[in-house]
Order: sequence, then C-alpha cells, then structure tokens
Amino acid sequence: MTSLRAVLVGCGGMGNNWARILAPRQDIDIVGLVDLAPAAATALKDRHGMDAQTFRALDDALAALQVDVVLDTAVPEARRQIAGTALQRGCHVLSEKPLATSATQARELLAIAESTGKTHGVMQNRRYLAGTRAVRDLVTEGVIGDVGMICADFFIGAHFGGFRDEMANVLLLDMAIHTFDQARYMSGMDATSAYCDEFNVPASWYRGNASALAIFEMNRGARVCYRGSWSAEGARTPWEAEWRLVGSKGTAIWNGVDAPYAEVVAATDGFMRPCRRIESGSQWQGPDGHAGCLDEMVTALANGTQPMTCSADNAKSLGMVLAAIESAAEGKKVPVRL
Ligand SMILES: NC(=O)c1ccc[n+]([C@@H]2O[C@H](COP(=O)([O-])OP(=O)(O)OC[C@H]3O[C@@H](n4cnc5c(N)ncnc54)[C@H](O)[C@@H]3O)[C@@H](O)[C@H]2O)c1
Repeated sequence: MTSLRAVLVGCGGMGNNWARILAPRQDIDIVGLVDLAPAAATALKDRHGMDAQTFRALDDALAALQVDVVLDTAVPEARRQIAGTALQRGCHVLSEKPLATSATQARELLAIAESTGKTHGVMQNRRYLAGTRAVRDLVTEGVIGDVGMICADFFIGAHFGGFRDEMANVLLLDMAIHTFDQARYMSGMDATSAYCDEFNVPASWYRGNASALAIFEMNRGARVCYRGSWSAEGARTPWEAEWRLVGSKGTAIWNGVDAPYAEVVAATDGFMRPCRRIESGSQWQGPDGHAGCLDEMVTALANGTQPMTCSADNAKSLGMVLAAIESAAEGKKVPVRL
C-alpha cells in the first residue's frame, strides 16, 4: 500500500491527538511537523516516537519535502493562511474546525479548493458518535415523524487559558460549530436564518463572548434552539450537549451520554396522548469521534472520493456560526448565506 505523505501543522493538544490516532495507520505517514514553537514540534515527535523532520513554517516543510496532504491542527486564526497555502501548493488539506474565522476567509478557501481540485476536509468528530448516529436514525427512520423543533443545551465552565481566552466569539466559533453541525447531521436539514444574542455572564473569564442563545430556522421549517455557555460553573452538560427533538409522532431525547430514546404517541385520544418508549439501537460500528472522522477523511483521500465533512458541506455549519455572530452584532434575524 502506498502511504499518503503528510505534514502536520500545529503541534499542540489536537496535533498530538491526531498524531496518536494516525500513527498506527499504514495509509498515511507524517513526514514533517510544523509549529511556530519549535519545542512543541520536537516534543510531539519524541512523544510519538516519530521519524519526521521539524520546521517552524509550512513553506519550509513544503520546500524540503514531497507532501500529499497537510494536516492543519493549528489555531483558528492561522487556518486561512495554512490551508490556503497548502491547497495552492497542490496538497490536500484535512483541518481542525473551524473551517475559517470569517465569511470572507471561508469563501476564499472554498474557491481555492474548487479551483485546485484538492480535497479540504474538516474535523467534525461529533458526527462519529453512537449517540449522534442513533438520534439521526430515529429521525431518518421516521420514528418521531416530521421534526419541527430541536433543542440543544450546552453548559460547561471550561478554563482553557491560551488562544480561546482572547477570541471575540469564543463559544460560537470554537465550540457551537460542533453542536450546530450535529443539529444539521441529526435532522438532515440546513439552516436558512439565525437570530442570536451573544454575551458574557457576570464573572466570565473570557475576553470575548462565551455565552449565546440562538434560534435557527431550518430549510424544512423546523427551528433549532441553542442555549450555550463556556462560563457556566456547576451542573455541567456533556460536551456532546443535551438534546430534544420534537416530531409529529413524538420526541427523541439524548442526554449526551446514554443511548437516546424516543417517546411516541401510542393512542389517538386523551387530554395528553399516551406514549410508548422506543429505545434507539445504535448501528454505529466505526471508531469514535476524532478517530472516526479521520478514518473517513484519510480513506476518502486514498480512494479519491470526498469525505462527508468536506469544506463545501462544512460551510453550511460554519454559515450558522457566522450568521449567529452577525445576528447578535446587528440585533436582528439574518439569513444563513455562506
Ligand atoms: N474537534 C475538537 O473536538 C477540538 C478540540 C480542541 C481543539 N480543536 C481545534 O484544534 C485547533 C487547535 O487547538 P488546540 O487546542 O490544539 O490548540 P493549542 O494551543 O494546544 O495548539 C495549537 C498549536 O498551533 C501552533 N501554531 C499557532 N499558529 C501557528 C502557525 N501559524 N503555524 C504553525 N503552528 C502554529 C501553536 O504554537 C500551538 O502549538 C483549533 O482550531 C481548535 O478549535 C478541536
């Protein structure tokens, strides 16, 4: 088997996670490591016992090595430059979320990917969880009928330090992208408009807004209601969020941890209709989370196909984020138009 030759850019938390997951694979070989901080690249190399050259800049790595794919696990602000450079130099790109930090940058990257014909895949690891898949099954198999309302709650007091403490729209851009992408994937719908308030609760330790309330209108009429905070101490939700999907036949519930279930109407009369509980049977057999998404993206590159989370699809999730930010800034409902 010929291996894809990869350069990993950004050797922090996620860079190490990607390296750990990819190390056992035969179809991809990380031949270069890039980080602005040379010690981070060296530490990653040593930690994973890798035979890779280290560099301070992607340009230097691309000049020195033959590269098929650039793995971008650097900070969001660097994504436009790293992914754009890599695509224009003839490499495929697999990047962490978010795809970009602005609509302009996202459109530029989409145009570059299209003009170069190279694949740009984006990490959306929460699509590769048994719970997410089980909720999607309850929807697509018609168990709860036509979905009219989706509610997602996310409350975690996360003290990261680092780049997140300085981001202007930290919750929406760095975290809610996961929940919004899950809502699209579970429901099979895309958002058409957003109405959002973005703010900080008292005692928030973030410079930018770390709390948000958002309502999205979806293309088949359903509404998504998101309540989230990264500066909510106590009684935290799972990272996967807590979910309620209300359909024409009943409701699907996922607490983000246990197997989802549905309660569906069992008789046609009564002030409150009697319901019966249906357990979800998750069919997801693949690797979880990051490993699942990386497996699909690397396999797609090897086969010359597009991964499910390619940038053209991911733009619809980022579009929800950017519309929510725009709505909050303007104080009105805005279209989702990326
Ligand atoms: N999918 C997920 O669940 C998940 C979880 C955490 C982080 N992330 C994403 O992963 C990315 C990285 O986050 P992290 O937590 O690993 O951050 P981190 O701060 O731990 O690591 C980022 C690394 O990138 C390096 N870097 C910054 N700019 C660079 C540049 N221009 N060229 C080369 N290296 C550069 C930094 O020196 C640092 O070593 C972010 O986009 C973040 O949103 C995703």
